[in-house]
Amino acid sequence: MTTDIRALPGAVIVERLSAWFGATPALHNIDVAIRPRSVTALIGPSGSGKSTLLRSINRLNDALPTARCTGRLLLDGENVYDDAMDVSTLRQQVGMVFQRSNPFPRSIVGNVAYGPRLNRGQSGRALDDTVEDALRRAALWDEVKDRLYDNALTLSVGQQQRLCIARALANRPSVLLLDEPTSALDPQATQRIEELLYDLQQELTIIIVTHNLHQAARVSRRTILLVDGVLVEEGATDRMFTRPSDSRTEAFITGRFG
Ligand SMILES: Nc1ncnc2c1ncn2[C@@H]1O[C@H](COP(=O)(O)OP(=O)(O)O)[C@@H](O)[C@H]1O
Ligand SMILES: [Mg+2]
Repeated sequence: MTTDIRALPGAVIVERLSAWFGATPALHNIDVAIRPRSVTALIGPSGSGKSTLLRSINRLNDALPTARCTGRLLLDGENVYDDAMDVSTLRQQVGMVFQRSNPFPRSIVGNVAYGPRLNRGQSGRALDDTVEDALRRAALWDEVKDRLYDNALTLSVGQQQRLCIARALANRPSVLLLDEPTSALDPQATQRIEELLYDLQQELTIIIVTHNLHQAARVSRRTILLVDGVLVEEGATDRMFTRPSDSRTEAFITGRFG
């Protein structure tokens, strides 16, 4: 018996999603069901639409005046493009981390407390607990517990990236999107993030864009290959990397293009 992914809480269901920037197409009729409690890697050549697909999940492309899309994107049965969708709530539910860590220029605790204070009116002991919990889940607590009021910008780049993950986790998301989160990090800081994703997938739907195929193979259970805005192949990572069904997948993973 196969489980219906669509019925699982935290699943991200993409239905006939197309996207354009002005007249230029960026995504063509994407259909894919992304599993919860699992890391899915989004791979493909530069310009293939990886970031556009990722950013469509929390409607970040809405901010770009020329961007538009058609199709549906369902999260827990609701189309995130419904008029009734509250985009601020959506972005708490679907957290995002970028290539360049972008902590607010305020204290470590101030970064993590920002969301729960603003969105859930948390304060006092409850807020302290949320902050500690998010920092622990982002594997940063032990390194910062004695300097919580230091400016976040005094952290190393790798720590700043984990702080951005903690800031997203403090909003209690069900989905975490990461767009090349380790490409500015050294191997050691990269490994810490990869280990963290491995742990976090027990509770979250994680979608990571990476141009590093070794990283995709290490961290993900499923992989999606995009080429020129088209979904070429989706499947179990170990199978796709050893027995790809599409010749373009084979060409891409063996480095013949991209
Ligand atoms: N803000 C934008 N304005 C215009 N075109 C864009 C914008 N962002 C991306 N594009 C175009 O959309 C396509 C997909 O880009 P992107 O999703 O960033 O690819 P990837 O992340 O795979 O490198 C490319 O042709 C790119 O030039
Ligand atoms: Mg990109």
